[in-house]
Amino acid sequence: MNSDVQIAGDPLAIPHLMPPPAAHPATVAEFAGLARAVAADRAAWAHLVRYDAVTRWYHRLRTGPGYEVWLLSWVPGQGSGLHDHGRSSGVLTVLEGELTERSTGARRVLGAGAQRVFAPGYAHEVVNDSLEPAVSLHVYFPGLTEMPMHRPHCGAAARPSAEAAAL
Ligand SMILES: [Fe+2]
Repeated sequence: MNSDVQIAGDPLAIPHLMPPPAAHPATVAEFAGLARAVAADRAAWAHLVRYDAVTRWYHRLRTGPGYEVWLLSWVPGQGSGLHDHGRSSGVLTVLEGELTERSTGARRVLGAGAQRVFAPGYAHEVVNDSLEPAVSLHVYFPGLTEMPMHRPHCGAAARPSAEAAAL
């Protein structure tokens, strides 16, 4: 019995028929892969990190068609408050230190390299409950345009915000 390659030919032998590699991620798996690639390229982000004890620090690291990548730092005790991400999906990746994510009925301690992927409307709170600073990377697709804050423990949006910077 002939294989597909024997019948149709080896596609790798005819590269002009292969689709070009994508310049930008387009799927959840590709956005998670982008986050892992950025995380591994420490020289691309480590020198940018600042720590601010007064307000959480954030920096837009990269943008592309339909997505953006944010770098955040968290000193011990800093947290996001309970929020969702409007119509954006996202990938949260811990780069350094340890963060705690709280969502409905769950508490997750995320160490360096841990990733969380979430869909539009997913509500969570992220806090640095540790004694050391932490750094995280956040990919949003589409780019974040709102981050409605929720009342703790009730899950209802309490203070919609057009500000896209608190993450
Ligand atoms: Fe978030």
